[in-house]
Amino acid sequence: MYSTRKVTQDTIWVGASDRRLAQFENIYPIPAGVSYNSYVILDEKTVLLDTVDRAVAGRFIENLTHALDGRDLDYLVVNHMEPDHCATLEEIVLRYPNVTIVGNVKTFNMIRQFFTFDVDSRAMVVKEGDTLCTGRHTLSFTMTPMVHWPEVMMTYDSCDRILFCADAFGTFGALNGNIFADELDFEQDWLDEARRYLINIVGKYGPSVLQALKKASALDIQVLAPLHGPVWRENIPWFIGKYQTWASYAPEDHAVLILYASIYGNTESAADALAVRLAEAGEKKIAMYDVSVTDPSYLVAEAFRCDRVVFACPTYNAGIFPKMETLLHELAAHNFQKRKVAVMENGTWAISSGKLIREILQSLKDMEIYEQTVTVKSSLKEAQLGELDGIVAFLEG
Ligand code: FEO
Repeated sequence: MYSTRKVTQDTIWVGASDRRLAQFENIYPIPAGVSYNSYVILDEKTVLLDTVDRAVAGRFIENLTHALDGRDLDYLVVNHMEPDHCATLEEIVLRYPNVTIVGNVKTFNMIRQFFTFDVDSRAMVVKEGDTLCTGRHTLSFTMTPMVHWPEVMMTYDSCDRILFCADAFGTFGALNGNIFADELDFEQDWLDEARRYLINIVGKYGPSVLQALKKASALDIQVLAPLHGPVWRENIPWFIGKYQTWASYAPEDHAVLILYASIYGNTESAADALAVRLAEAGEKKIAMYDVSVTDPSYLVAEAFRCDRVVFACPTYNAGIFPKMETLLHELAAHNFQKRKVAVMENGTWAISSGKLIREILQSLKDMEIYEQTVTVKSSLKEAQLGELDGIVAFLEG
């Protein structure tokens, strides 16, 4: 059975959600699933904007068939060639052999890499600023490379003032009937997943996102139509503002994040002692995570949210405890920067984790690192509470 929704009079959402997939890109846990959005414009010509992941091909084809209502498909615009959006591209060509595929030079190179069907005879190659008139609607194309792959472009429909924005403004989470952000309590229920999606998927390419936002600011946008998650009809400047913050690596909250690893609970105990001293100093927003328990994708997103971070970690195999080391490399890979940070280390002999963590933090841009590493020898002693107060004074200063 079809499950389409109208976005505007002429534009129909024909996407589908996957609630079975455990890990997006086989790495990021998605306990609430994910949606793959696809859109049809019904004009004198018919247009499909992007397709979906193979896992939801059946629902997508039902939706597309219903939306077209017996009409042929004239154009398929490929804004992004990652397989979560293009896996069903050949299926479309087989069902609608008259279709013209619209993309840029890089798009078609990737289509030839992923597929062997004859794409050249049905290719319409576009570049920055090119337009396609389909009757009442005129689509214009703008190149937004590295948001999230090099071929990514966005399509603006000046008739309905919709920006089909590819991976940008996407969110993890299946769409459950309510496909519009204004039908949901987005800030309460979705914002954390929107942040985790953007930071982990595109966080490395902040300058490219900012470039795309600059281009988008020149458009009159009434609807933001991303490839994942809710469609935006209201409050668009608020969400663009969040993107501006995330992509510029600026903290979103005045909050302390304590990230600890602990083997037998002693480093955790020291982290707890620090947390209560922060609270007694008046800190209202303190988030704490055991890096062995929480997936790094959540922790990277939290590190981007908070303006101050404490790393507390035992020494393991003469190095950094592996879960913490993985997290630090993830942070570095996502260009984590511009934060106030402090380090606590632990060990029973040959303690080295603090020095090694500091080396990684020192390699990041514009970090303010507390000069004193607090060293815990097996367990924190009463006499060391003053050292924790030193961290508190640094973070609260
Ligand atoms: Fe949703 Fe970069 O693909």
